[in-house]
Amino acid sequence: MVVGVMGAMPEEIEPIIGRLENVQKHEVAGNTYYTALYGSIDLVIAYSKIGKVFSALTAATMIEKFGVQKMLFSGVAGAINPELKIGDLIAATKLCQHDLDITAFGHPYGFVPEGKVFVEANPRLLEIAADVARKLGVKLKQGVIATGDQFVASLERKSWIGETFNADALEMEGASVAVVCDALNVPFFILRAISDAADMDAGFDFDTFLQSSALKSAEFIFAMLDEL
Ligand code: ADE
Repeated sequence: MVVGVMGAMPEEIEPIIGRLENVQKHEVAGNTYYTALYGSIDLVIAYSKIGKVFSALTAATMIEKFGVQKMLFSGVAGAINPELKIGDLIAATKLCQHDLDITAFGHPYGFVPEGKVFVEANPRLLEIAADVARKLGVKLKQGVIATGDQFVASLERKSWIGETFNADALEMEGASVAVVCDALNVPFFILRAISDAADMDAGFDFDTFLQSSALKSAEFIFAMLDEL
């Protein structure tokens, strides 16, 4: 089985690459893809760079050029739901694009014709994640993740996203990876550890907690590999 592990930033995938042996490097379309054998799994690992376009390109490249059959995403997010504190894990049940807006034509936020507002993650991968969380004794929330090409550092914007999409957390890549995987029939799982609360302090908190939260997410994803 070929499994893709994506992040958006180096900090999000380095902890995974660091646990592997005989890692090979491949340069495709301006990105580095790392391949390695882990047990019986052929792993393909990359960080995409930040945002929806780069992450869509990386997801599509992993699937079309490297033959990825299951996609796992590891990274950090801003919390919307006040239950979520820095370092907490959230797995997306479904994802939406909060910055997609053709409401001028009577469509809901996040919708374009022939698309859908929400793309659902693979239920079996969510089950596996719940089992892994129980085994590791860590808390894993399941919820809605909203994605957009914006670093959100405003209570007003964060509340709007929370109210409009009933979203629990926000970030900048999950929904674009979801759209690509959904279109190409590849089961996907998006995991995030909270780095900030998308408020006035978000920039500072993000810089402070990126590494520790990215590591928590990566460790969880690594544990999931044994259960696929
Ligand atoms: N990823 C982590 N924190 C974020 C924020 N506040 N906005 C967008 N993406 C994020």
